[in-house]
Amino acid sequence: MKHPLSIIRLTLTLSLTLALSLAVAPFCVEAEETKPYARKLMNAQGCKACHTLEGKGGNSAKSFEDIADRLKAWQIKIEIANPHRRHAAGKIGDFSHLTPEEINSLVSFIKQLETKQEK
Ligand code: HEC
Repeated sequence: MKHPLSIIRLTLTLSLTLALSLAVAPFCVEAEETKPYARKLMNAQGCKACHTLEGKGGNSAKSFEDIADRLKAWQIKIEIANPHRRHAAGKIGDFSHLTPEEINSLVSFIKQLETKQEK
């Protein structure tokens, strides 16, 4: 028979693994579910007048793929809505009129365009 301690250790490891997967799962699901919603939002807000998405859009700003590679989620968030209410290096108003949910869905949508692998 196995030593009781090793059974306790096994049980602990299993519960920890389960807890971790349960904690991470909602984020994966969320990223998938917000995609069409965020796309619509991006079109409605006219982001692609200046930025490109999947090769389509304007050239007056960086592509969203490039932004995803360089910026962390919180930095993208600050660019969309910030205390100064300015976007594009202060040239235009920002998007703080959007709800927190809308802003978050834009941020996670942009972030999942990342082409480089997280180290
Ligand atoms: C009128 C043009 C314009 C519109 C519309 C616009 N942006 Fe921008 N945006 C810029 C410019 C210009 C910059 C700063 C320079 C650059 O990224 O090339 C910028 C910067 C950013 C950055 C930071 C990029 C970086 O490299 O630091 C993010 C993120 C961003 N925009 C997201 C958005 C989102 C999301 C929308 C729509 C909700 C949007 N932008 C709409 C012009 C625009």
